[in-house]
Amino acid sequence: MVPTLCLLPYKTKLLSIFHLFLLPKMAFSHQILFIASALIFSVLNPAQSATSDGPFTHSRAAYYPDSDDKGSETGRCGYGSFGATINYGDVAAASDLYRDGVGCGACYQVRCMNSKDCSDEGVTVVITDQGSSDRTDFIMSKKAFRKMAQSTYAASSLLAQGIVDIEYRRVSCSYPGNNITIKIDESSDYPYYLAFVIWYQQGQKDITAVQLCETKDFNCKLLDRSYGSVFTTTSPPSGSLSLRMLLSGEDGDEKWIVPVNIIPENWKKGDIYDTGVQIAE
Ligand SMILES: *[C@@H]1O[C@H](CO)[C@@H](O)[C@H](O)[C@H]1NC(C)=O
Repeated sequence: MVPTLCLLPYKTKLLSIFHLFLLPKMAFSHQILFIASALIFSVLNPAQSATSDGPFTHSRAAYYPDSDDKGSETGRCGYGSFGATINYGDVAAASDLYRDGVGCGACYQVRCMNSKDCSDEGVTVVITDQGSSDRTDFIMSKKAFRKMAQSTYAASSLLAQGIVDIEYRRVSCSYPGNNITIKIDESSDYPYYLAFVIWYQQGQKDITAVQLCETKDFNCKLLDRSYGSVFTTTSPPSGSLSLRMLLSGEDGDEKWIVPVNIIPENWKKGDIYDTGVQIAE
């Protein structure tokens, strides 16, 4: 369940610069050759350092003092019990990044800035809630907050500071053992009102629209985002239903995903449906 990161090149570059100073016995011309090839190597391999992850943005992060090693079942994304265990408790409440619920389920790599205490990788959190503290973008679970540190000792120092300077960037979410999953909400009232939450959103794109279609004649209805990752509709289409989800990237590209698995005609509150869909990008 650890979202994909690409951090090696960061260290690789530091190493290759460092190595230049360890070559005093090498002939000067060889040194030049070495430096030139190191430069060419780093220019020719931008994909390694960049992948699809963008640049970091500076901000601040706090943590929930009463959280322990779990997330929250009551977050504003509507995940319910899933919110406690998602990403092994490495979760955060987002401020502006909540984006009226569209930001729910998005993954961010967050690392703190103090090189004495903080690791290079930081932690990858999933947004499960909305909230802000003093000019923070994230309020993290205590577990995730501690994970930004280099050591247990450094973690205590971070916790003592309460709010720390951080940098963050959007990364892809990956749940290799789980498909995108639909849980029918307890507020549903068959057949008049249907509400469900989307679990295990994956990849680096947002789910910006959801439709339900009758499998018989593909009569589709656009659902309302009630809040967070919860979608609802009064008078849902009847019969067995196929789901359609619009994925939107930061670069503006959009794609409808149509899972093969259907929601059966007699859906019930509390039911959990596996869409059969994994998203890699
Ligand atoms: C995910 O969906 C595929 C079909 O697309 C299925 O074979 C697989 O068992 C599902 N995985 C889980 C963990 O349910």
